[in-house]
Amino acid sequence: ELEWALIPPREVSQVDGVFLEKNMCNNWDKIWNFQAKPDDLLIASYPKAGTTWTQEIVDLIQNNGDIENSRRAPIHLRHPFLEWNSFSGIDEANAMPSPRTLKTHLPIQLLPPSFWEKKCKIIYVARNAKDNMVSYYYFQTMNKGLPDPGSWDEYFETFMSGKVMWGSWFDHVKGWWKKKDSHPILYLFYEEMMKDPKREIRKVMEFLGKNLKEEVLDKIVNNTSFAVMKNNPMTNYINDIEMNHSLSPFMRKGVVGDWKNQFTEDQNKRFNEDYEKHMADTSLSFFEEL
Ligand code: A3P
Repeated sequence: ELEWALIPPREVSQVDGVFLEKNMCNNWDKIWNFQAKPDDLLIASYPKAGTTWTQEIVDLIQNNGDIENSRRAPIHLRHPFLEWNSFSGIDEANAMPSPRTLKTHLPIQLLPPSFWEKKCKIIYVARNAKDNMVSYYYFQTMNKGLPDPGSWDEYFETFMSGKVMWGSWFDHVKGWWKKKDSHPILYLFYEEMMKDPKREIRKVMEFLGKNLKEEVLDKIVNNTSFAVMKNNPMTNYINDIEMNHSLSPFMRKGVVGDWKNQFTEDQNKRFNEDYEKHMADTSLSFFEEL
């Protein structure tokens, strides 16, 4: 914890109006010019939508449910985080043998164009805005790589205005939703994964062109549960120096509907009004409780 206190918080800047860490902005050409390969798999999401969960599911499917193999390294080393400089994402990806699985939080308009040119398969995971906001708020309190969120009331305004890292939730989920009509994108929902994990895991398996036995699928369901992943040092970011888990653990609650414990009645009303406007031009819809 002392060490965490010594890490200076990161600075923020913008690329095309989207807030990103300053180092990413300064290195933007390197990110933008990243060369994807046709057999790359990309896992994309808005931060806190269930990225790590999806990554672990994908890794276990790729390894035919081999638990030991999936514990070979922390998740951020198994799947380079493309734009994240503190993990040297681009360099890691370039050094990785194919087939590669990569992670990004970039909004659609900022994704390096070679992913489109090479027609890479992409798995996108989305989560309802209210739970996503609450999860992001707690994450920003515990992660020095992100700006201090201030009070919850302040953060509510920041999130609604889209002035958070990786930009507006609305633009993100809508942009990726639209793109799936013209590109091989499997669009997953956190809420559906909670409701019926086996069905969603089977979808991922089919998308990856794999065929695993029922018992292997069951094993993957069990090993990607919140309880197991919370106790797995290869998925819970427990050794990440930028995160102070005593302020809020990375594996925080893992539920649908936690926003009800956080939103005031007034915030909920304002949120719903704003939400209607933002989502009027999309067929995309979410469950905010199960
Ligand atoms: P909460 O903060 O609501 O608990 P990401 O990986 O995109 O950063 O998302 C993190 C969120 O996903 C956190 O949400 C975390 O608890 C939740 N999560 C991680 N693994 C999960 C799992 N196996 N099942 C359900 N939720 C999970």
